[in-house]
Amino acid sequence: MVVNKTKATAAKASLKYINNGMTIGLGSGSTMYYFLEELGNLVQSGLHIEGVPTSKRTEKWALDFGVPLTELARDTVIDVAIDGANQVDENFHLLKGGGGSLVREKIVAASAKELIILIDDSKCVSRIHDADLPVEVLPFGWEKTAMAIEQQGYDPILRYKDGASFISDNGNYIVDCHIRTLEAPLKVHQQFKKLTGVVDTGLFIGMADRVIIGKEDGAVEKR
Ligand code: 5RP
Repeated sequence: MVVNKTKATAAKASLKYINNGMTIGLGSGSTMYYFLEELGNLVQSGLHIEGVPTSKRTEKWALDFGVPLTELARDTVIDVAIDGANQVDENFHLLKGGGGSLVREKIVAASAKELIILIDDSKCVSRIHDADLPVEVLPFGWEKTAMAIEQQGYDPILRYKDGASFISDNGNYIVDCHIRTLEAPLKVHQQFKKLTGVVDTGLFIGMADRVIIGKEDGAVEKR
């Protein structure tokens, strides 16, 4: 794997928010690989934490790096969730789901006391724009759900992987809807959520508490 320096820098900078005894939400995506590698090193040095993974891929990486895992149960208290994003706007609204893990990521983020997002400079935008908004939909009748999305003015494209429909860890499909400029993220998110068959969208509205931006010469934080 070619090392992405800015993602690795953001991951390293987030370690100061990890303390002994914490339960940590483990987001998904390539940036999380760097975080999990660092976290694994800390665990090998004696740090006691538990992680709640948001995807099968994250679960595998965590186990590879020796990060102990736990489940998200009623009494689980997630002290901090660490995750990546595809874009972060000036109001800290996030576009996520490039890797298709948006539903579990959102459940974990919503359960966490704090959500810290790790990105590089290119993902910081004033408004979310020129991107695909991932929408997780139930496979049953998905074409009807896609028609309902079309009626809202979008052009949903079923996501494919390795020549077959992409299946999320929840057993669902993802349709990607191209967005030119997102003027009203909450309104758009709500518009999708009210459609039967839609599980959730990759818009995380007002959920991030802190954003760590990895740059060539170090990390910058916003909150
Ligand atoms: C996965 C996500 C990821 O956090 C997002 O796609 C960013 O990925 P990467 O760290 O690979 O740039 O939302 O569902």
